[in-house]
Amino acid sequence: MRVLAGEVVDPPPIWLMRQAGRFLPEYRAVRSKARDFLAFCYDPSLAVEATLQPIRRFGFDASIVFSDILVIPDALGQRVRFVEGEGPRLDPLDLATVDGLNLDRLESHLAPVYETISEVRAALPPETTLLGFAGAPWTIATYMTAGRGSPDQALARRIAYANPDGFDRLIGVLVEAVSRHLVAQLDAGADAVQIFDSWAGALDQTAFEAWSTAPTAAIVERVRAARPGARIIGFPRGAGAGLATYAAATGVDAVGLDWSVPFAAARQLPDSVAVQGNLDPMRLVAGGAGLDAAVDRILDAFEGRPFIFNLGHGVTPETPIEHVERVVARVRARGLQARDLQARG
Ligand code: CP3
Repeated sequence: MRVLAGEVVDPPPIWLMRQAGRFLPEYRAVRSKARDFLAFCYDPSLAVEATLQPIRRFGFDASIVFSDILVIPDALGQRVRFVEGEGPRLDPLDLATVDGLNLDRLESHLAPVYETISEVRAALPPETTLLGFAGAPWTIATYMTAGRGSPDQALARRIAYANPDGFDRLIGVLVEAVSRHLVAQLDAGADAVQIFDSWAGALDQTAFEAWSTAPTAAIVERVRAARPGARIIGFPRGAGAGLATYAAATGVDAVGLDWSVPFAAARQLPDSVAVQGNLDPMRLVAGGAGLDAAVDRILDAFEGRPFIFNLGHGVTPETPIEHVERVVARVRARGLQARDLQARG
């Protein structure tokens, strides 16, 4: 929270996107108790446990509520299911039927997420930040229209480019849904929220500005109008050269960097925006001296800036637990080293 307020903190805080998940044996044990993935997300006792597991094991500085970005289409009345080993499947939305999406039941449908947040906040150590989150409208809309994920969301792009007016209406519904979902998470006890725009990098410049940056700016404005001072992290994965525009136009407190962002480009962002990232999750899988060196390069690059250590995207299921422990220890040791040098003059 201090970094999100613009402070330089040494050592920097650390948490990892997708820190709860299949790489943890205790997650797989809880997961096997739920009927399906969405039932897991909507069962507060299971979701609280999954949220706390990585905090107990690694002592991260932030936890992120266990849920998914696709609870929003589910709450709007679109059928969502998760196929084991394949990922999400939705009955593809026809843009002619956007007006049939129902925002009335949003908060009541998502009440278990808010209950999870209240219970996690009560169980967490006071110094551990609790993050709520939502997908950005563009990223949610790719799954709603294409019905599934793919390496480049080409089908969703084609649908959007072919019917920009219909797609604008969908984005408009999602701006409202995401804003309300974030406000409800803050009210339930989330200290800050993150907006995941995992497919921002799939768009051309015009579409990126219209469907990633502008809707995110509208959400930030709405959330802050409702809850002044709300702290918001934006993660426009793959935004590349659009990162500076995104940071300036949205007014987020921090931007999440994917691993392809050059340090020099990140350092050109104004000091008023904190940065979060950006270790390649595959370096975390690979481990060894290459992992240590990559962690050190990131710590060097962002020294003296408001910075939160994280991955450049989510933890993958094949990640060895020892590698995560090693990264946490290395990030924390850096701060000790710095203080030691200071003490010795
Ligand atoms: O970070 C955390 O620990 C909190 C929980 C969280 C999940 N999904 C749990 C999850 C968060 C923040 C998300 C966000 C999410 N979900 C995104 C944005 C971030 C990103 O990764 O790009 C997206 C695109 C989704 C949609 C989604 N959910 C996909 C594509 C998949 C399948 C891929 C996979 O890894 O299986 C999911 C399922 C999912 N969401 C799992 C978890 C732990 C795995 C499901 C399982 O346990 O069977």
